[in-house]
Amino acid sequence: MTRDLPYGRQTLGPEEEDLVREVLRSDWLTQGPRVPEFERDLAAVCGAPCAVAVNNGTSALYLACRAAGLAPGDLFLTSPVTFAATANAGLLCGAGPVFADVDPETGNLDIGAVAAALETHPRIKAILPVHLGGRICDLEALDELAGRHEAVVIEDACHALGGAWPARDGKVHPVGSCARSLMTCFSFHPVKTITTGEGGAITTCDPELDEKLRMLRTHGITRDPRLLHENHGPWYYEMHDLGINARLTDIQAAVGIVQLRRLETWRKRRLELVQRYDRGLAAVPEVAVQRRPRGEDLTCWHLMIIRTPRRDELFAHLHAQGIGAQVHYLPLHLHPYYRERFGFAAGDFPGAEAYYAQALSLPLFPAMTDGDCDRVIEAVADFFRTGPRAP
Ligand SMILES: Cc1ncc(COP(=O)(O)O)c(C=O)c1O
Repeated sequence: MTRDLPYGRQTLGPEEEDLVREVLRSDWLTQGPRVPEFERDLAAVCGAPCAVAVNNGTSALYLACRAAGLAPGDLFLTSPVTFAATANAGLLCGAGPVFADVDPETGNLDIGAVAAALETHPRIKAILPVHLGGRICDLEALDELAGRHEAVVIEDACHALGGAWPARDGKVHPVGSCARSLMTCFSFHPVKTITTGEGGAITTCDPELDEKLRMLRTHGITRDPRLLHENHGPWYYEMHDLGINARLTDIQAAVGIVQLRRLETWRKRRLELVQRYDRGLAAVPEVAVQRRPRGEDLTCWHLMIIRTPRRDELFAHLHAQGIGAQVHYLPLHLHPYYRERFGFAAGDFPGAEAYYAQALSLPLFPAMTDGDCDRVIEAVADFFRTGPRAP
């Protein structure tokens, strides 16, 4: 009996268990010493001076939008091919959504479409590019456009922790270094490149934003004596802004500290698997694998996305063989909420819709063996050779 293969899965070991046990026996369960330790380690991996850990990627995006000052009357721009949380973050600030179409091959924002949207909508205050599946958007082009339109770039890098990209001048920038953005947001959900169970973070180079994010993640409250309007004693704190409880726990941070140490090994394994898929699937003409980006060796692939006109049948065939392929994503403008609330309709973003019609994510996680990968390739090839097969 072959084992079921999900499209993504966490890897956890005795080191995570040991550190979690240590936290459970300590005085700190919520935000104690492990959270700042995790933040320091994450900042080091990203090459950013500041990292703020939060309870999930959704909070990271929401608080980043808040810290950037997104408010009612503003607009924000993002990709329709993303998880709902990206655009919801802007909506929760009271701002309005603008989508720009994507490259139908990669699902990443099309720079020409972004430029056009910025011309049409001068109230766009933030651009949220999504590095779909780990493929990094053209941040230099986006940052240049944002600069010309007085907008800021907030990266949704929930798929991309561990990767890096080569700039036009040849310099390499780790994801999260914010070389061409104001802030970068991460998720540590179990299918992502590291996990803390639920978890997220924001990195930035701006110490004022760092301070603001820290305040927003704990109800907008500060105890910092430099900031207090009054000071009644050691117990005293003040609320200066409207925030939420978006804190990560020390238990989660302990898992994250160990996971970060393994990230580079896992990145290399993900890359090997993607390259193995590319080689194996090259023999299946009905399947298109994505062209690989310049500097692919720097990428930390989160998803192995293929395209095929017979996507739905292939999905069913793979699931019948215990292979948990997945679809990322129904474009946001087609969700009932976005259609009904904002009047989006089918046909609005043909690139996103063409991408969605054919895209399929094959299993990809570091604990996959070469044999697992070959099994998926063989199941795909078999489908096109002989048609759907019963389990
Ligand atoms: C692109 C993208 N953005 C945001 C999120 C939200 O992250 P979380 O599930 O940690 O809230 C996810 C997670 O699924 C995601 O894939």
